Amino acid sequence: MSERVMSALEDKRVQLVVGGVGITGGIYVAVKLSWFRKNPFKSFGGKTGAMAKDLVDRGIQSYNEFFDQEDGKGVGSRILSTPDFVNKFYSLITDFYEYGWGESFHFAAREKGESFEDSIIRQEVAIAENIGLKEGMNVIDLGCGVGGPMRNIVKATGGKVTGITINEYQVGRCTTLNKAAGVEHLTEIVQGNFMDLSKVFKGRKFDGAYAIEAACHASNTTALYKEVFQVLKPGALFASYEWLRTDKYDPNNKVHVDVVDGIAEGNALPEVRTIEDCVKAAKAAGFEVQFTFDRATLGGVPWQQAMKSARRAAYLTHILTGVLEFIGFAPKGTQAVHTMLLKAAVNLEKGGDLEIFSPMYLIVMKKPMGAAAVEA
Ligand SMILES: C[S@@+](CC[C@H](N)C(=O)[O-])C[C@H]1O[C@@H](n2cnc3c(N)ncnc32)[C@H](O)[C@@H]1O
Repeated sequence: MSERVMSALEDKRVQLVVGGVGITGGIYVAVKLSWFRKNPFKSFGGKTGAMAKDLVDRGIQSYNEFFDQEDGKGVGSRILSTPDFVNKFYSLITDFYEYGWGESFHFAAREKGESFEDSIIRQEVAIAENIGLKEGMNVIDLGCGVGGPMRNIVKATGGKVTGITINEYQVGRCTTLNKAAGVEHLTEIVQGNFMDLSKVFKGRKFDGAYAIEAACHASNTTALYKEVFQVLKPGALFASYEWLRTDKYDPNNKVHVDVVDGIAEGNALPEVRTIEDCVKAAKAAGFEVQFTFDRATLGGVPWQQAMKSARRAAYLTHILTGVLEFIGFAPKGTQAVHTMLLKAAVNLEKGGDLEIFSPMYLIVMKKPMGAAAVEA
């Protein structure tokens, strides 16, 4: 280094400017490369989702403590109040999901050359088509998140969607985003437990229903499907993208068991079911099963690729959350929440690579026309 540069660097003001530019540049690059597609500072300054700043640390600690599960058993019956547990989970991670993944919290079957965003919309429109949604119809979106799917679906079909989510913070985000997208007249959002649909909607009947990667949170699939059955008109269709173990899952293979346990742990699931479980549940609820199909078998790009592509960026984000937490900008516990999401991502990727798990096993069912007489 030349003498002039060396002496300039000894100047306190030059040091300040160089340091400032370095830190700002570093953070800018980290943010640019990170999982976050929007400004993460906006949310982590005050709180994470619905959770007040001082509660994040306690929230993630108690979440982690909960998962001292036995291999292969999930947390199942030990979840005494699943909705509270799931609500806490979504309070912790909604901002991470939205800023890192987008407004739609699900995976998609993707063709080669297709953008991530286009594949997400195609996945959503496909489920709407499977229940025949069109103008003049009103269907329910079970576990609607912050409403990414409902906005894309109403724009594509002209039909009306009523979303339900357990998480109050998501209701607020969804309302804001629906307004910004100019689709308020075609959307409605309700906070409530989808295990209690008939109570929430008090005799209201819908022209169809769909669930995108949400029914996996139900403490009992038959009980959920029965609730959906209650709020549908006879002849209406219900389609769900379920998170399921595939036929390749071997309960005697420790790797398989650990991966599936990891998926349950990182995503607040009571267990990971099979397509046979769902078909049985649909029949027990009174539905006619129209067809089942694993959308993970479609497309040239595996669904888990989107997470793999973001891996390096996710590690940078991890460092960033640590720095933000250290300087007191993000609440204590923020990095632990991100650690949980990283672990979840690794197990989801493994589950996809081993083809033992699918997050998009489609099941389409119909409430029989004659059901009106049975119900009456
Ligand atoms: C993985 S997210 C999917 C969100 C949305 N379907 C999407 O694709 O963007 C699961 C959603 O299910 C909701 N959920 C989970 N359990 C629920 C329950 N018992 N009642 C209502 N919503 C629930 C969560 O609040 C969350 O919005």
